[in-house]
Amino acid sequence: MKFALISDIHGNRSALEAVLANIDARGIQQIINLGDCLSSPLDAVGTAEILMARNLPTVLGNHDRQLFDRPASEMGLWEAWVIDDLHDSHINWLKSFSKTITYDDVLFCHGTMEDDNEMWLHAEGPQNRMINRDRAEVADRLGDTAATLIGCGHTHTADLVRLPGGPAIVNPGSVGCPAFLDDRLDPPFVFQTGSPDARYAIVEKVNDTWRADFIAVPYDPTEMAALARSKGVEDWAQALETGWLA
Ligand SMILES: [Fe+2]
Repeated sequence: MKFALISDIHGNRSALEAVLANIDARGIQQIINLGDCLSSPLDAVGTAEILMARNLPTVLGNHDRQLFDRPASEMGLWEAWVIDDLHDSHINWLKSFSKTITYDDVLFCHGTMEDDNEMWLHAEGPQNRMINRDRAEVADRLGDTAATLIGCGHTHTADLVRLPGGPAIVNPGSVGCPAFLDDRLDPPFVFQTGSPDARYAIVEKVNDTWRADFIAVPYDPTEMAALARSKGVEDWAQALETGWLA
């Protein structure tokens, strides 16, 4: 079994196009989308149209759910940027996503199996920076699953964790959002990969062991950064151009 895992596209159509071209050039047939498809100051409609045409198996991300589980007036900033652009067809497509997807001994989710808004491999650490979770905290979130491979997203942080006697857990990183700032916290939560590349992962079972290849695809962020700036969102523009926050 071999899958390309894409996640956390966040309306970045240019990054999505680059990743899909990279996957297609490798001849990989099975692509799984781990959610958070549209919310951002970028191109939600263009992103949705590409993904809907591909008809990829997709798990429901917190930012997908938050586009239909509350009135527009109660949506967060990332949803408020896009909700007025989306049509019923886009919302119905988001509603069709599953909380989890399983194939044989493989399981995919957005955050954890139980919670699309929970970080599995990572946590908010001192100074509101992302840190790796301890082994027991990662294992606690397994429940009784017998999966040998778990794919999750949400933290935008590419990672592979192997639990002794348990599954490999892979986060492919984020296709479209390499850095972000949450200034509702004090100090602000700062996430930055330090590279503008579009990230995804290829997972494959070889001799009964899952291996993961983490791919960073360079692409031209000019159009998406200009879209962010046209909405007055400078931190997103700089994140897309550099992978860093000023
Ligand atoms: Fe998420």
